[in-house]
Amino acid sequence: MNASPPPHAGEPGVPRHVAVVMDGNGRWARSRFMPRFFGHKAGVDALVRAVNLFADRGVEYLSVFAFSSENWKRPSEEVSGLMSLVLVAVAKYLGKLAKDGVRIRIVGDRDAVSDKLRQAWEQAEALTRENTRITLAVCFNYGGRWDMVQAARRAARQAVAEGWSTGQIDERIGEGWLGDQMALSFAPDPDLFIRTGGEMRISNFMLWQSAYAEFHFTDCLWPDFGAEEIDRALAAYAQRDRRFGMIRAPAAQAAG
Ligand code: FPP
Repeated sequence: MNASPPPHAGEPGVPRHVAVVMDGNGRWARSRFMPRFFGHKAGVDALVRAVNLFADRGVEYLSVFAFSSENWKRPSEEVSGLMSLVLVAVAKYLGKLAKDGVRIRIVGDRDAVSDKLRQAWEQAEALTRENTRITLAVCFNYGGRWDMVQAARRAARQAVAEGWSTGQIDERIGEGWLGDQMALSFAPDPDLFIRTGGEMRISNFMLWQSAYAEFHFTDCLWPDFGAEEIDRALAAYAQRDRRFGMIRAPAAQAAG
């Protein structure tokens, strides 16, 4: 079995991976006497700005919660509005994001979405595959519990195929981690988890991956989340003392 350390890549300073719950679009629109969809549209613009701002500051991965497994329970016109917004966003911004060096990955259960949407995602991923400036993981029809269940199923299938006992399914499975079976296995665990919009909960985002993340909650509504707020979040992160369950952070421990 592989004895490599757990994949918490966080070092003090700049987070490699930032995860964001982009909350507050509806309230942002309501405060302008506009429909909620107007807020989601502004949310897309904010996302495109944010990915460049994070990249400029050295962040390598940005994961955003664009549509949760639970968002299907919203009114049907809002659900279909969010679906069509993906198509609008891809048409409007894919060329720019590709030019800006952004690699796009879509994370989530693709089975429940339309063929048109799936094709738009495939196009976005294919066009940006070679980009290296920053990876934007758009979590869509995603839920942390969904991810853990699908990872457990994959692990169980592997265990059956290899003839392992269930006791051999652990945090480690085969040559790697159970985390290797998860939809975000291409990224290190998030170092910084941000939620805008004033609520202080994680709402089923990155349940497995945020085990050692630092949390930053802000009242700022997502469409207003710009450079100033990003710098505030990164400055707060830089002050944190990350210990990963130990007494001192791994880097400090190695340095003596
Ligand atoms: C939460 O705000 C936001 C969402 C459920 C959707 C987030 C989506 C975007 C920002 C657009 C990005 C989309 C694509 C296509 C990449 P809320 O509606 O819960 O706001 P509220 O709490 O003020 O009601």
